[in-house]
Amino acid sequence: MDKPRPRSLRILLGVTGGIAAYKCPDLVRRLRERGAEVQVVMTAGASRFITALTLQAVSGRPVRDSLWDEAAEAAMGHIELARWADAVLVAPATADFLAKLGHGRADGLLSTLCLATAAPLYLAPAMNQQMWANPATAANVALLRDRGATILGPGEGDQACGETGPGRMLEPDQLAELTLSRLSAKRVLAGRKVVVSAGPTRERLDPVRFISNRSSGKMGYAVAQAARDAGATVVLVSGPVGISPPSGVEFVAVESAQQMHEAVHRALADADIYIGAAAVADYQARAIAAQKIKKSSDSMQLELVKAPDILASVAALKSGRPFVVGFAAETENIEENARAKLVRKRADMIAANLVGDGLGFDRDDNSLLVLWAGGREEIASCVKPELARRLVTLIAEVHGSQRRPGTVAAVRG
Ligand code: CTP
Repeated sequence: MDKPRPRSLRILLGVTGGIAAYKCPDLVRRLRERGAEVQVVMTAGASRFITALTLQAVSGRPVRDSLWDEAAEAAMGHIELARWADAVLVAPATADFLAKLGHGRADGLLSTLCLATAAPLYLAPAMNQQMWANPATAANVALLRDRGATILGPGEGDQACGETGPGRMLEPDQLAELTLSRLSAKRVLAGRKVVVSAGPTRERLDPVRFISNRSSGKMGYAVAQAARDAGATVVLVSGPVGISPPSGVEFVAVESAQQMHEAVHRALADADIYIGAAAVADYQARAIAAQKIKKSSDSMQLELVKAPDILASVAALKSGRPFVVGFAAETENIEENARAKLVRKRADMIAANLVGDGLGFDRDDNSLLVLWAGGREEIASCVKPELARRLVTLIAEVHGSQRRPGTVAAVRG
């Protein structure tokens, strides 16, 4: 099977109503010259400065300008469009649009897309220098920056209104370069295939009962999403959970440890990295009763036998072995136990966290201690999507350095 080739970066270019909109056809061309696909979304104000026809001609795609366009919504709904984008670049971003974003308004297609997307947001302000200096604008910009938006510019110089100062939109070539280079830097797994297992497993006892655990799947799903955002092709193999899989990943639903074991090994063809984030049962029933087990005496004994150790089996592969990352849920002596698990299971890396007493399972935040041969890194407590992003960056770094022998020590002392 051929390796997946990295696809083009998809830029959703939002054009708002400022005079700098006249530079947008050039911006679209600069982005496309660098290999990006561009979908333009304009506000009503933007169409006072430039026509949709011009932007359609240079982008090669019909321009979107309304939430209420039935034909366009049927072809690609606004939520799909928000998911399609690898990044949203708003250029020019007017003072009014920045204020709107700061307040989380969704009163038009572009502002709705900015709220609905999980992709990084790049804003290129363009306005009169007094408007840029106004404390209201400064506060909106600070707020948006705090929430993770990247502000590109503005530049300084002569303005269309005849004044001179900061407020000019950066030049198209510079904007295209800044956006795409920052975005590529985030895509540390472009061209890689990653298999992630997540959630609990269920080991059936009879037709109505099973043994399971409290894993919510949140960490594994966040890891799958972070790997997707880093440019990887992702297969997510999951036990039963109450959350939806991230879009853009291949999803395989399983129930038992045995099914997960088989699904993971099937998904591993051509995989570069396996991340075992599932809370797999250690034991399964020796035999599953065909009928509901009746209560016949005061006590009962279940006979359990070992379930397959998926992580260890992947790490033991003789051919096609991927880089293997395990998780370790520990209630005490976290570093010692996790290091022992790394060695025992022959994994390449292990991400350990403390569980129990309200920690770890079914929570939105967590912290991790990541260990590998010759290295360690602590990722301080933060929400799981952020934790997953940092973990994926670290995995890419260590995996990359191990493929270039001799550089591991240089990466982490
Ligand atoms: N794991 C697995 N298959 C199993 C059990 C665990 O693949 N049957 C994987 C988990 O997905 C995780 C890692 O092994 O990546 C460690 O899981 P953990 O429950 O912490 O370790 P155990 O092997 O179960 O060891 P113990 O319960 O003794 O701590």
